Amino acid sequence: MALLELDQVSFNYGPITAVRDLSLDVEEGKIVALLGRNGAGKSTTLSGIAGLLKPRTGRISFEGNPLPRSQVSRVARMGVAYVPEGRGVLGGLTVEENLNAAAFGHGLDRREARIEIDRVLEHFPAISSRMNQRAGTMSGGEQQMMVLMRATLTRPRLLLVDEPGLGLAPIIVRAVYDQLIELNRDEGLSVLLVEQYVELAVETADQVYVLQKGELVHSGPCSDVEATTDLVATYVG
Ligand SMILES: Nc1ncnc2c1ncn2[C@@H]1O[C@H](COP(=O)(O)OP(=O)(O)O)[C@@H](O)[C@H]1O
Ligand SMILES: [Mg+2]
Repeated sequence: MALLELDQVSFNYGPITAVRDLSLDVEEGKIVALLGRNGAGKSTTLSGIAGLLKPRTGRISFEGNPLPRSQVSRVARMGVAYVPEGRGVLGGLTVEENLNAAAFGHGLDRREARIEIDRVLEHFPAISSRMNQRAGTMSGGEQQMMVLMRATLTRPRLLLVDEPGLGLAPIIVRAVYDQLIELNRDEGLSVLLVEQYVELAVETADQVYVLQKGELVHSGPCSDVEATTDLVATYVG
C-alpha cells in the first residue's frame, strides 16, 4: 500500500475540469515529482490533496484511509503538510513567531514547540541566527527554508510542496532542494513535489508524473536522469 493514493481523481472549478481522472501513488519514503506546463493542473492537485478543494470524482487515501474531503486542518493533523506556491510567509512576524504559530496551531505547547524548532534548525542551520528577524525581510531562499521548517515542525509523514524554486536564483534553488533531500533521507519524510525546473526535479525525485492540460501523460521512475529529463521535456518544454 502506498502512503498516498489518488484513484481517478478529478478537480473542477465550476464548470471547468482542471484535473481529470488522475491516479497517482506516493510510496513511503519516496520523493515524487508532479511536472507539467503552466496551467497543467499541478497546483490544483496539491491543494486538493491538502483539502482545499473537494474532488469531483475519485478517491484520495492516505495510509489506506480516505483523506477528509476539503478539510484542511484535519488533513494536516493526519500528517500531510502543505507548502503552497508563494509560500504563505507571515512577513510582519519574526521567524520565531512564524514557527511558533505553526507549532501552536498544531496543538504543541511552548516546551514542545521549542524541542521541535531545535530539531528542524539542525536541518536549516542558516536560519538559527535569524530567529528574531522579521520573516518578510529575509531573502526569498531564506523564506523558502523557513517555510519548509514550519511545514516539517509537526513531523508530517508527507510533504506537499509547490514550486519551491520559484523566483529564486539557481544556486539558492539548489540549496533548497538539498535541504528537501536531507529531510527525506534523515527523517524518512515522503515528498510530493511540483516543479517547473524539470531537470532538477528529475534529479531529485524517485518517480515522476507528468500532467498535460489536466491529464496524466506520463508516469515512471527517473533513475535514468538524462533519458527521463528528455522524455519529460517533450511534454513540458
Ligand atoms: N481558482 C481558480 N478558478 C478557476 N480556474 C482556476 C483556478 N485556479 C486554477 N484554475 C485553472 O485550472 C487550471 C490548472 O491550474 P493550476 O492547477 O494552477 O496549474 P499549474 O499549477 O499546473 O500551473 C488552469 O486552467 C487554471 O487557469
Ligand atoms: Mg501552479
